[in-house]
This record gives sequence, C-alpha cells and structure tokens, in this order.
Amino acid sequence: MSSTSQPVWVLNGPNLNRLGSREPDVYGNTSYEQLVDLIVDEGRALGFEPDVRQTNDEAQLIEWLHDAADQSVPVIMNPAAFTHYSYAIRDACAMLTAPLIEVHLSNPVAREEFRHTSVVSGVATGSISGFGADSYRLALRALVGVLAD
Ligand code: DQA
Repeated sequence: MSSTSQPVWVLNGPNLNRLGSREPDVYGNTSYEQLVDLIVDEGRALGFEPDVRQTNDEAQLIEWLHDAADQSVPVIMNPAAFTHYSYAIRDACAMLTAPLIEVHLSNPVAREEFRHTSVVSGVATGSISGFGADSYRLALRALVGVLAD
C-alpha cells in the first residue's frame, strides 16, 4: 500500500453504540468506544485511515452510503437490525463504487429465524460474522486483499 493512507469508512447501525452493556452474552463486553479504538489501531497497522461512525437512524446511514459512493470509499458495515429488512439500505449499498464488507459480531444464522436473512449480503463483496470484535479486524484484513486484486 502507498504511503498515503487508504480511507475506509466503518459504518455501524442501530443499538451498536450500546455495546458493552447490550446483551453481553451475545455481543461481548467490548464497549463501542473500545471497538472504535480497536478498528482504528488495526486499520492503521494495515495502512488504512478508518472513519468509524454509528447511527440509530436509517436515513443517516443511507446518506453516508451515498457519500461513500460519490467518493468511491470502501465500506465495512454492520447494518445491525437493518440487515434483515431494510431494502433502502440494500439499494444504497448496491450503488457503492468501491468494495463493501458486511460484518456482524454475532453469527446471525445461528440465532432467531428473522436474523437468518440478510438483504445486504447479496450486494456485498463478502460477509464476516460470529467473531465478536474480531469480525471487524478480519474485515479490514480481507479488504487489504480485495483492494490489491
Ligand atoms: C448484529 C446482528 C443483528 O441481528 C442485530 O440486530 C444487531 C447486531 C451483530 O453484529 O451481530 O444489532 O448485526
């Protein structure tokens, strides 16, 4: 990778700001703030400049996806519950002009049936689920390879 850091946006959907106190048996004890630090540290070590954002607002997430499309920035996204039903998020993802990696802390297909469907996976470059906070580290590593191809 060149000496100029490659931007990557790491977008997080609803309720992920509650990590640390939210269902720790499912999502672990890492707080959202710790997750951001982990992503920034791992990303920088790999030559990225991560911009990590979280929103509980579907419209905001769609606006960020439009901006990412316009700027051709790769995106790592945990759409949280929007994963399972938001065709608006899916349509915005379909417009992206750089790779998209979908991440989940838990393994949704091992959980309740409504989580077994991802409307985002079909327009993502790839998906990583079930490794807790490490899902984000793995996504960053995968992105290195995807961008090198
Ligand atoms: C999640 C899984 C979703 O089913 C859930 O709605 C979330 C978090 C995860 O990271 O495991 O909010 O995306």
